[in-house]
Amino acid sequence: MKNLKPVAELSRDEAEKELARLARLLKRANTAYYVSDQPVMSDAEYDRLKQRNLAIETRFPDLKRPDSPSNLVGAPPSSAFAKVVHKVPMLSLEDIFDDASVYEFDESVRKFLGLSAEDAIDYSSEPKIDGLSLSLLYENGKLVQGATRGDGKVGEDVTANALTIRDIPHHLKPIDGHLPELIEVRGECYMAHSDFFALNERQKQRGEKPFANPRNAAAGSLRQLDPAITAERNLRFFAYAWGAHSEPVADTQIQALRRFAAMGFKVNILSELCHTPDDLVHEFHKIEDMRATLNYDIDGVVFKVNSIALQHRLGYRSTTPRWAIARKFSPVEAWTWLRKIDIQVGRTGALSPVARLQPVTIGGVVVSNATLHNEDYIAGRDSRGNPIRDGRDIREGDWVKVYRAGDVIPKIADVDLSKRPPGSEPYKFPDHCPVCGALAVREPGSSVRRCTGGLSCPAQAIERLIHFVSRPAFDIVGLGARQIEQFYVLSWIEEPADIFTLEARDRAGKKAKSDPEQMLEKLTGTDPEKARERLASALGLERFDTDKVAERFESLSKTPLAQMFGWGETSARNLFQAIRARRRIALDRLIFSLGIRHVGQVAATMLARSFHNWSAFYETMTTATPGEGAQWDSLVAIDGVGPVMAEALVLAFQQEKERALIDRLVAQLEEITEVSAPAPVDSPIAGKTIVFTGTLQHMTRAEAKARAEALGAKVSNSISSKTDLLVAGEGGGSKRGKAEKLGVRTVDEAGWLDLIGGV
Ligand code: IVH
Repeated sequence: MKNLKPVAELSRDEAEKELARLARLLKRANTAYYVSDQPVMSDAEYDRLKQRNLAIETRFPDLKRPDSPSNLVGAPPSSAFAKVVHKVPMLSLEDIFDDASVYEFDESVRKFLGLSAEDAIDYSSEPKIDGLSLSLLYENGKLVQGATRGDGKVGEDVTANALTIRDIPHHLKPIDGHLPELIEVRGECYMAHSDFFALNERQKQRGEKPFANPRNAAAGSLRQLDPAITAERNLRFFAYAWGAHSEPVADTQIQALRRFAAMGFKVNILSELCHTPDDLVHEFHKIEDMRATLNYDIDGVVFKVNSIALQHRLGYRSTTPRWAIARKFSPVEAWTWLRKIDIQVGRTGALSPVARLQPVTIGGVVVSNATLHNEDYIAGRDSRGNPIRDGRDIREGDWVKVYRAGDVIPKIADVDLSKRPPGSEPYKFPDHCPVCGALAVREPGSSVRRCTGGLSCPAQAIERLIHFVSRPAFDIVGLGARQIEQFYVLSWIEEPADIFTLEARDRAGKKAKSDPEQMLEKLTGTDPEKARERLASALGLERFDTDKVAERFESLSKTPLAQMFGWGETSARNLFQAIRARRRIALDRLIFSLGIRHVGQVAATMLARSFHNWSAFYETMTTATPGEGAQWDSLVAIDGVGPVMAEALVLAFQQEKERALIDRLVAQLEEITEVSAPAPVDSPIAGKTIVFTGTLQHMTRAEAKARAEALGAKVSNSISSKTDLLVAGEGGGSKRGKAEKLGVRTVDEAGWLDLIGGV
């Protein structure tokens, strides 16, 4: 946070502006905290801003706004709910992550109690519900208070909200005609998957941010100042423990669960009595296998010594009981059903198989899609034909292991053949593009199958347009993936040049470049039904109906963008202005925007610097012959340009359709500006070629790259003999080995920070 001017030094004008800014900021922070449960600032920051607001108001009382944050309910967020001091603290559990630790847990219990391996100890096994714990105080059978866990000692009073949860009885049922004077029933408040998906659907429709996972959604819904909102969210509750009590609850954990059920609570039916640590391990794996089929999230299995008398003897460490343990699932893996394999077609025509999964939460994120890489991977072999996964193939309907780490796309890591449904068939990878129907072929030595439809394939055309308008390319704000898809299907924008003629066509009342039949034909790959759906959806129709489609297509083409649903005067004006501004473009952006295979941002910059202007570049691209002549030689001599990239470039410019498309685009541009070579910099990395791998703690990859370039270095993505330095953060894998083999100097993050003079 930047340093703010002392309040005493603010002018009246400045004060007024700042009060407006603070009102906006604090209101947003409040909504984020209370309504979406997705805080945008720390409590300390919130307090600081609030105090500053008050100080300014005290100095200029007449500037206090009607919507002043000083009037906001609840003062700092943490005091929005009344505090509840737990009579018995709400503890957490020690986590373990493997089977061996289950046996160690059993041993430690026996050792503490002085029991031998022969002495019987029973345990309960219960799914560990991934929600938030809630403590419910009943006096003479009547619910009088509901409290969150908070820090374990002090929680928040959420009684009004707890009363709206259907699974929570307002009055306990007496057992044998008897009700305890006081009992505090504890358990997990959670949101079922079906309710979570429905809630996120509503959030999206209202233009609000969806929740990342059911746990966040449950927390956000319980900690609502308005209980009516909690009620609408349909939270649920499982009872599994207790706090303060006026009389013994039960002799064993399993008996306690039965009593809770008799009192009117929901208890988890997957809870079991176990006699040995082998039983516990068996239970864990049984529950792990069921995980993806449950309608709620679990993140492990809890084991508790069954006898309450033994629990008392075992007692507690500072924050966890000795008598219980949580065997957690691996935070990066989960097993689930592979429902369907879909094929996506990318910018360069590559057919990528995507696994549609039974949604499963891995490391706090709901995963419903994962990559299957390519057809060899599905078939159980690598690109050289050697078996992977011992040759096990992957089929629709299989039980698969999904792996997710960080923000990378989740992968299917393995398959369990014992759960394969009878009669399943090996997956047949399509040999035609599912989007345009053109033949899809494999190049020799590659595992990737590519659509040969080129620019007449809508998938490739759309992906290339999305690339064209993206930030490092033409950077056209207001034209994102959604708009591109719609404008393409309406045949308003089919290639980059169309972007620049859109405004004129909009004014003339005829935006469409073709008619609906032509578009339908284009969209019909191997699935005509899907093509019809796609056209209907771009037109905002619920169903496909030939007459309606033609009519709507025509009328939308006439309607000015400014009057279309989702647009308006301002957004249409801004879009056209953003497009106009890009008629002047830098050469490196133009080269990158063409989306030619292998030509990334770095290569585009190198090419632009070396050719200086478009005509020189164009001349070489359209006349060079791969593998021969002075032009080819000078092209591959450019730093960062190898023969593979050079060939891709030359081929693109020498295919008639491609070249015509580029010519039409360039005809729309007013000026292509030169990219000057950077002034020589005096730094230890100036002129060096650097590769980054792994994760850096002190800066993002993008920041590291920018720093390196600012200091005169070149950043490349792959290691070669031209590399001078490898900066290896945490977890960098294969690149380290390669660098070592090639004798490339490698430094860790500390070494990197040294070179660039610190963060
Ligand atoms: S027993 C003193 N049983 O896990 C032990 N906890 O990491 C109290 N949880 O805060 C907890 N299912 O929110 C227990 N069957 C279960 C549970 C469970 C989920 C949660 C609970 C607790 C956390 C501990």
